[in-house]
Amino acid sequence: MQIQHLLFSQGFGTRRICAGLVEQGLVEVEGQLLTDPTQSVVAQGLRYRVQGVQWLYQERAYLMLNKPAGYECSHRPGAWPSVYTLLPAPLRQRGAGAVPGVQALGRLDQDTTGLLLLSDDGRFIHRMTSPRHHVPKVYELQLRDPPTSQQVSRLLAGVTIEAGSDPVRAAACSAAGAQALQLTLTEGKYHQVKRMLAAVGNPVERLHRSRIGALELPADLAPGQWRWLQPAELDALR
Ligand code: URA
Repeated sequence: MQIQHLLFSQGFGTRRICAGLVEQGLVEVEGQLLTDPTQSVVAQGLRYRVQGVQWLYQERAYLMLNKPAGYECSHRPGAWPSVYTLLPAPLRQRGAGAVPGVQALGRLDQDTTGLLLLSDDGRFIHRMTSPRHHVPKVYELQLRDPPTSQQVSRLLAGVTIEAGSDPVRAAACSAAGAQALQLTLTEGKYHQVKRMLAAVGNPVERLHRSRIGALELPADLAPGQWRWLQPAELDALR
């Protein structure tokens, strides 16, 4: 693949800009400065630098972000900054679809923290977010009051959060501290956790997602930080 095409595929701008980056001596491949935008490179496993920043070629992007509070999971946020502003520009610009760049796999509320996955692989996004696949998501809840065993039983048995629709239930639910619960959902209706807890009369005060399927939010990923998924993590999710 020509280096200019590789840069374009990885989100470094228009074809013209990508050619310009090479011509201006801003692109290094395996320690060597390139000057010819048509220079062929082997994309798979390629390590390269653009303006001094190291990148690894990724045919598709799969990442995790530790979402901080105060960010919206939307490309067109209303009142809060977008989570996408926490990612470097090439990740926001990859691909050439109607909505370019990586997309969050589902949404977390503005005030919810924790594990958010993002990708530009449409099939992967569909599979992970489809209600048919029941990918379990684990939430850590701080509640207004200590949870009672009756509330836990109701959450497991199913509660109605929308008049006229079927009850929704937690796949797992257990106390995790004086005013804390750990709750697992295999579906993702709008504000589902908060509405379920409101339905049992114990509102959520803080909500954090700690796990999606086999993937746990790593303790060393600080709020606001992102990283690529390791191949083994991706396999485990799939
Ligand atoms: N359920 C909610 O109520 N909010 C979230 O952000 C995620 C799940």
